[in-house]
Amino acid sequence: MYSQQIIDRFKNPKNAGSLRGANGVGKVGNAACGDIMKMYLKISDEGIIEDAKFKTFGCCAAIASTDVACDLIKGKTIDEALKVTNKDVFNILGTMPAHKIHCSVLAEETIRDAIEDYYKRREKANKAK
Ligand code: FES
Repeated sequence: MYSQQIIDRFKNPKNAGSLRGANGVGKVGNAACGDIMKMYLKISDEGIIEDAKFKTFGCCAAIASTDVACDLIKGKTIDEALKVTNKDVFNILGTMPAHKIHCSVLAEETIRDAIEDYYKRREKANKAK
C-alpha cells in the first residue's frame, strides 16, 4: 500500500524534467525491476547544489523517491548531499511496501552517481586547462 505522499509525488512531481546547464548527471538502474533514474544537478563553484531535476522511468515509488531526493539536496553542499540516505527519502514518503524500499535506495544511489559525474567533469576540465 502506497502512502498519500507517494501518490501525490507520483501524480505531481515538483522536480521532473532535465536541467539545462547541468554539470553533474547521474544515472542508475535496477536490473531486477528494470527501473532507471536519471538526475541532473547544477552545482555552483562553491559546491552548493543550486538545482536538481530528474527523469525516472519506473514505478510510482521510484518517481516519488527521486522527486523527494531532489528536494532533499537542493541548497545543500556536496558533502551534505552525500549524507542523504534512502532513510531520509523513506521518512518523507511514509509507508512504503517492503518490496519497494529498493526504490528509495536507487534514489540515494542516483544522488551519488550525479555527484561523482560532477567530480569527473571538473577533473577533466582542470586537466584541459
Ligand atoms: Fe524497482 Fe521501483 S520497482 S525502482
